[in-house]
Amino acid sequence: MSNQNLGLETQAIRTQLERSQYLEHSVPLYLTSSFIFEDAEDMRASFAEEKERNIYSRFSNPNTSEFIEKICLMEGAEDGYAFATGMAAVYSTFAALLNSGDHIVSASSVFGSTHTLFTKYFPKWNITTSYFDVNKPETIENYIQPNTKIIYAESPTNPAVDILDLELLGKIAKKHNLILIIDNCFATPYIQNPIQFGADLVIHSATKLIDGQGRVLGGVTVGRSDLIREIYLFSRNTGPALSPFNAWVLSKSLETLPVRIEKHCENALKVADFLEDHPNVASVKYPFLKSHPQYEVAKKQMKLGGNIVAFEIKGGIESGRKFLDKIKLCSLSANLGDTRSIVTHPASTTHSKLTEEERLAVSITDGLVRVSVGLETVQDVINDLKQALE
Ligand SMILES: Cc1ncc(COP(=O)(O)O)c(C=O)c1O
Repeated sequence: MSNQNLGLETQAIRTQLERSQYLEHSVPLYLTSSFIFEDAEDMRASFAEEKERNIYSRFSNPNTSEFIEKICLMEGAEDGYAFATGMAAVYSTFAALLNSGDHIVSASSVFGSTHTLFTKYFPKWNITTSYFDVNKPETIENYIQPNTKIIYAESPTNPAVDILDLELLGKIAKKHNLILIIDNCFATPYIQNPIQFGADLVIHSATKLIDGQGRVLGGVTVGRSDLIREIYLFSRNTGPALSPFNAWVLSKSLETLPVRIEKHCENALKVADFLEDHPNVASVKYPFLKSHPQYEVAKKQMKLGGNIVAFEIKGGIESGRKFLDKIKLCSLSANLGDTRSIVTHPASTTHSKLTEEERLAVSITDGLVRVSVGLETVQDVINDLKQALE
């Protein structure tokens, strides 16, 4: 039976390594750094890649392979490689595919560390980046140069929850023969499959909703097998591999991803509805609220709205700080996509070193609050936000 024809929930549960002689029901943990060879010929053929088998866990490991296979099935991807963190996935993907002199066209609003890669580290290797406004994706073509190789974006974006039209990005990338890479972290493979809209590669920080319980770090890149081959060769030599233990945890987490995401999104929509009616809230951004500027695009490409709600608190930075101080139940934490609801105020924390102008360029207004809605009783989360807003 090919798992490709099974439902996504079944794929997440029934994609499993071959059973060992113990006939275990749940997959065992292969905590081993290396694998043995039967003889010199077996070893030669394995290193020559004439055989598909595990050699060393920096290259591959049964637990990481199971995790990758599930993500590939759920994203409709040909192949993948799993990393120790989401940032290892982002960095290694670019580093494997780009040469000195290449150029990236990126959405202006991308995760902070990704932005730092573009602005601080890639220029060291003569790799440059131009940014398009996430609210004006029709301008992307203005930034494409003869040396452009990659178009990069997140959708929804972190932290402002803007939505980019993936179909439009896919068409532009195809027209100019560019590699389209989408960070699908906020949506997960359950909500959105960028490959369906023309993405060549999809990246996830598995640390977020894929683990979903705030336990382990992980990352994964899946997509076209020719590109994954380059990423694999780069990573096999540079060493950003996911640990077998974390892969085991993440593969188990995928078994419950669909039900968790359904509940996260149901709770998030209720939180968004509550915030929209609150007098101290200037505006709310949630992909499945009709008031979201890209509501129609969100409905076209997403199955559900996700678990992140962004809102603008009246009164700017000071109100944002006071709001955080009054929060009782939700956590003040840098993570997101946990069972526990988390609130952050980027202008006074993660992005406080930027000027107001720099913050606005990446869609971070002074009063922007990001809520990662968890799986608690939603009324308790709403009550906490309510008392903190008063
Ligand atoms: C959109 C996005 N991409 C990448 C990352 C990086 O992932 P990690 O923290 O696993 O390195 C994050 C982390 O918050 C993120 O939100």
